[in-house]
Amino acid sequence: MILVTGGAGYIGSHMVKLLGEKGRDSITFDNLSRGHREMVTSGKFIKGDLSDTDLLVDIFRGYHVTAVLHFAADSLVGESEEDPRRYYRNNVANGIHLLDAMMEAGVKKIVFSSSAAVYGEPVRIPMDEDHPAAPVNVYGTTKLIMENMMKKYNEVYGLRFASLRYFNAAGADPDGFIGEDHDPETHLIPLVLDAALGRRKEITVFGSDYDTPDGTCIRDYIHVTDLAEAHILALGHLEKERGPAVYNLGNGRGFSVLDVIKAVERVTGRTIPVRAGERRKGDPARLVASSERITRDWGWQPRYADIDVIVETAWKWHRRRFG
Ligand SMILES: NC(=O)c1ccc[n+]([C@@H]2O[C@H](COP(=O)([O-])OP(=O)(O)OC[C@H]3O[C@@H](n4cnc5c(N)ncnc54)[C@H](O)[C@@H]3O)[C@@H](O)[C@H]2O)c1
Repeated sequence: MILVTGGAGYIGSHMVKLLGEKGRDSITFDNLSRGHREMVTSGKFIKGDLSDTDLLVDIFRGYHVTAVLHFAADSLVGESEEDPRRYYRNNVANGIHLLDAMMEAGVKKIVFSSSAAVYGEPVRIPMDEDHPAAPVNVYGTTKLIMENMMKKYNEVYGLRFASLRYFNAAGADPDGFIGEDHDPETHLIPLVLDAALGRRKEITVFGSDYDTPDGTCIRDYIHVTDLAEAHILALGHLEKERGPAVYNLGNGRGFSVLDVIKAVERVTGRTIPVRAGERRKGDPARLVASSERITRDWGWQPRYADIDVIVETAWKWHRRRFG
């Protein structure tokens, strides 16, 4: 049995669906602070908070849980700077509660949702796993603290972990029944799709004088189903290997803000009203991953790497949910 924390959220719900398709039993553990019960389409659902160590220990023992996929966290960079207590409490203190419960119940395997935010300002592009980890916000710091903690727990308590550093998760399950629904939404693709649906008047492009071919920021978008597939590989790895695994998960190709807007226009056949805005503080010109290491070691390859395909899957869901 696999416990999926945050399984009612955007990425976790895709994970739970994929586990079901692979015939693996799962329990979603989510407090629904930012998730949606109806997005959990497979396995069992238990409403609970990570701070409830006793409940977690009962679940681990009662359901013979063998591994944890830990998606539950708060993940808004701006909010983490305004309300750092929330982030240290939920992402770090609750992470400690989860690891404690695992140790107590003898659950020794965890796949952790880390983030490109652990790197901070890029010193080279593409960014590989050896890029210096120097987060520039509280959110990235909380992810790095968790990674460091798990490294020590690996040495001392034999915890087996894989930490997957996602770049920008995007797209939706190709069948269109689950997808991204964050409140507030801060991710570019759903915001542009909102503009396509008329739920938003226009899209503000923050800065058009960056050192990139079209002057707008370049980011690495990775399809949410490709992310979920990497977790299946990670579970297989943890069955066999003791050593820590830390890998980037990105597309390896960057797309600019204007590339994304044009892809939405192609896919939806609608024109997106665009407004030029000032640069935002702390936005690097480019953030692009090298995912060569996970490809080499585990054979992982993104299946939905094309930006139009990513947007098509997101559009199918977005129209159904919000149209
Ligand atoms: N979305 C991205 O682009 C991205 C990029 C890098 C890393 N990540 C990481 O991936 C993970 C999933 O991201 P997402 O976009 O699906 O986020 P999300 O907000 O959609 O999902 C998180 C889920 O965790 C639940 N949760 C939060 N705190 C909890 C707690 N204390 N107890 C129980 N449940 C709790 C929420 O209700 C929600 O359902 C996060 O750890 C995030 O930091 C996401």
